[in-house]
Amino acid sequence: MVVPKGYVPPKGHRKKVNENIANMISEIPGGEFLEIGIGPKVRLDRIEIMSQSNIQYVGVDFETVCNMHKETIDNAGINRNHMRFMSNSVGTYLYNLIRLKRENKKFDLIYLDGHHTLYVDFAAAFACIPLLKAGGRIAFDDVYWTLASKEESLKKSEFYSDIYDFSLYTKEEREEAHIAIITEEYLVAEYGLKKVEEYCEPYWTVLQK
Ligand SMILES: C[S@@+](CC[C@H](N)C(=O)[O-])C[C@H]1O[C@@H](n2cnc3c(N)ncnc32)[C@H](O)[C@@H]1O
Repeated sequence: MVVPKGYVPPKGHRKKVNENIANMISEIPGGEFLEIGIGPKVRLDRIEIMSQSNIQYVGVDFETVCNMHKETIDNAGINRNHMRFMSNSVGTYLYNLIRLKRENKKFDLIYLDGHHTLYVDFAAAFACIPLLKAGGRIAFDDVYWTLASKEESLKKSEFYSDIYDFSLYTKEEREEAHIAIITEEYLVAEYGLKKVEEYCEPYWTVLQK
């Protein structure tokens, strides 16, 4: 899927995504929720819904981010017995997803909201397939992430400047949405996951196993 140049998600899309996640969590009472990429903001409202609905949570992110979440939750006096954090200090969350599979963990809902590039999240998305219960859902944010939209900022980044060589890609490839390659071209077309249309937005995709 080629993303129109200069595309920006509609105003209020972040709020809508958060509402969708809250709704999907409340639809799995007594279930299991895995969030890959827990982010800089501790969402106490979501934690409240999870406590009320008796949901077991696993959050995966860099070590510093996980530590910040644990500290904030503890400082708020919230019991986090139903919450587990798995971190990586460098690299990606992939190995923690492999560890979860080896523990035979299964989830009703997975939110893959980490790096948003093909290079990191293609592997992570495939590691998620065995982690989904039958009928379980996986949500993807930032569906419109493209190399073209990030080319300028990535060039300025010391870390990424040597990783991406934009001349290796055609113009059309640079304008392709990475998450959409994973979801549409592989998970739906090749592996039979179904789109949950009621929750899908152009910038956000939910699939069901
Ligand atoms: C957009 S934020 C997640 C927001 C969160 N899901 C929410 O709803 O508020 C993306 C997160 O992915 C994490 N992330 C990105 N790449 C990662 C990597 N290679 N390893 C571990 N975490 C990563 C970042 O640290 C960041 O916290």
